[in-house]
Amino acid sequence: MSEQSATPATTSATPRAVKAVIPAAGLATRFLPATKAVPKELLPVVDRPVLQYIVEEASHAGVTDVLLITGRGKTSMVDHFDRRPDLEARLEEKGDAERLAAVRRPSELAEIYTCRQPEQLGLGHAIGYAESHVGDAAFAVLLGDEFVNLAEPLLPAMMELQARTGGIVLAFFEVPPSDTKRYGIASVEPAESEYADIAEVVKVTGLVEKPKPEDAPSNLAVLGRYVLPAGIFDAIRRTEPGSGGEIQLTDAMDLMRREGTPVHAIVYRGTRYDTGQPLGYLQTVVQLASERDDLGGEFRKWLTDFVNAGFPGGSST
Ligand code: G1P
Repeated sequence: MSEQSATPATTSATPRAVKAVIPAAGLATRFLPATKAVPKELLPVVDRPVLQYIVEEASHAGVTDVLLITGRGKTSMVDHFDRRPDLEARLEEKGDAERLAAVRRPSELAEIYTCRQPEQLGLGHAIGYAESHVGDAAFAVLLGDEFVNLAEPLLPAMMELQARTGGIVLAFFEVPPSDTKRYGIASVEPAESEYADIAEVVKVTGLVEKPKPEDAPSNLAVLGRYVLPAGIFDAIRRTEPGSGGEIQLTDAMDLMRREGTPVHAIVYRGTRYDTGQPLGYLQTVVQLASERDDLGGEFRKWLTDFVNAGFPGGSST
C-alpha cells in the first residue's frame, strides 16, 4: 500500500473492499489504427500508460489485489506490471536510479491477476468473470479508460461509504444534456444525514444506461468507479441485454436497487480524466504534461507560444 494513501479513518463495522476489478477487454475502435496491436490501456499519458494511472489510483485507496479482465491481443497489459530483470540490470549497471525506480514502480503497486473475457458482450458481462476471484466480499471496479486526480481522491470515500451502507456505491459527475447518451444517468434524492461526514452523498432512486437527453432523469452521469457487493454477480446473471445489445452493469445495479439493495453515490467535483476517446485523451496528455515538474515548465511555455501564434500549421476551421 502506498505511503501517500488518502484513506480516511474507518468508522464502519464491515470490512472495506481491498480487491479491485479493471475491465480492459474492449476493442477500442475509437483509436484505430493505433489500437490494432497496442491495447488502448497502454497508450501513454506523457511517459506512463493510462492503465498505470488507474492501478495507482486503486493502490492509493488501499487496494492490494487487482484483477484485470483482458481479451485477445491484450497480454502486454500484464507485462507492464511484471518485473523486467534484463532492463533493470542494464539500468542498474548504468547507475540510472531514476529510470530503474520508474521501471519497477508498476510491479510494486498491487498484486495483479488476470482473467479473460472470451467475447465482449458488455460491461456487466465482463464484471461477471470476476466472480470466482472476488468471492463474497465487496469489491471496487475501475474502468480502464478514465481516472481522477490523485490529489482529489474518490475511491477511499466510496469504500468507506460502502462499508457503512453494505449496498452499491457509485460516483457521479455532472454532464451537459447533450452528453447523457454517453453515460449511465441517475435519478436521486437526498441521502440519509448519517453519511454527510464522508462526502457529498446522494441516494439513487433510478439508473438508466445512455438515455437520450429528453429521457434523461438528471444530468448526473455514472463515473467509472464502483464499489459493489458480491450480490452483483447473481444480478448480472439475471440481466438481459440492454443498451447497444450488451449486458449492462447499470441494468444489473438497477435490478438490485429495485429488489431492495441501497444505492448511494458520491458527487465528484474533482478532475476526471477521460482517455476513452481521442479528444479527452489529448486533453489529458496536455493537462498532465503541463503539471509535470520535469518538463511542465518548458511544455507550458511552448504551448502558450503556440496558442498565441494562432496555432501555426493548423487549419482555422
Ligand atoms: C460505461 C458505463 C456507463 C458509465 C461510463 C463511464 O460506459 O456503461 O454507465 O457512465 O462507462 O465512463 P462506456 O464508456 O463503457 O460506454
